[in-house]
Amino acid sequence: MREVKVASSAGFCFGVQRAVDMVYREAESGEGPIYTYGPIIHNEQVVEDLKRRGVRVIESLDQLEGIRKGTVIIRSHGAAREVCDSIREKGLKLVDATCPFVKKIHNIVSRRSAAGEQIIVIGNPDHPEVQGICGWSESPVIVLSEESDVRSLRPEPGRSACIVSQTTFNLNKFNNFVEILADVGYDRCDVVNTICNATEERQREARELAGASDAMIVIGGRSSSNTQKLYEICKHECKETYYIQTLVDLDIRRLPSSGCVGITAGASTPKNIIEEVSKHVRKEF
Ligand code: F3S
Repeated sequence: MREVKVASSAGFCFGVQRAVDMVYREAESGEGPIYTYGPIIHNEQVVEDLKRRGVRVIESLDQLEGIRKGTVIIRSHGAAREVCDSIREKGLKLVDATCPFVKKIHNIVSRRSAAGEQIIVIGNPDHPEVQGICGWSESPVIVLSEESDVRSLRPEPGRSACIVSQTTFNLNKFNNFVEILADVGYDRCDVVNTICNATEERQREARELAGASDAMIVIGGRSSSNTQKLYEICKHECKETYYIQTLVDLDIRRLPSSGCVGITAGASTPKNIIEEVSKHVRKEF
């Protein structure tokens, strides 16, 4: 019996799907020009398709300065308060596609920093989501990405801290940092675990599916780190694992002629690419 199974968590998470849908909706409304603040997702096909529909990407506040009219969409990673204020002040239409889970972090950071607490973000300081989070604090934020950063912290005497996390940070690493932080010497340390389980869920399902399949296809961009991670997980469970960007890369002859083929995809792989691959494998299988 031959079977093709597609992981239900393959592809976009809830927040990315919502943001992409919002951009397409704006593009269809015909009220141009439309800009996204940073690429809406790290997927060339989608960005190119949106470009054909008149959606352009702006990368910085400086670029925003030059825009006189139109709509600016904030992507699921979110953006600093300064960016949102600047869009409004310029009289542009702001469409906020910040993932609600990220927005929740902005609200915590805004409220707790206003109450005088030291905001600590556990995450990668170069990641746009973390930069956006920091941009909602009323006071300077401490970002911790390595254990050595945590160990070298020297808290201000008598100050309380509020700790949040980048949504895609590794949970074990987060817990380890929090344990160390408990002894660093803050007056009071309030930890809010803001890690989103979409990534973990996708990896868990991929592991299970690969373990039960005779061959596994992982779809995603070559430079997508979460797709690479999915590939490693699947390869560990199933020797016949293939990493493809689109259907063009798939050599159907390499798939077994019987058994089960599992399919999963990284967080920035659009549904239509997943469907195209699964349809093709079903047809040929
Ligand atoms: Fe996705 Fe939002 Fe989680 S963008 S990974 S659902 S925080």
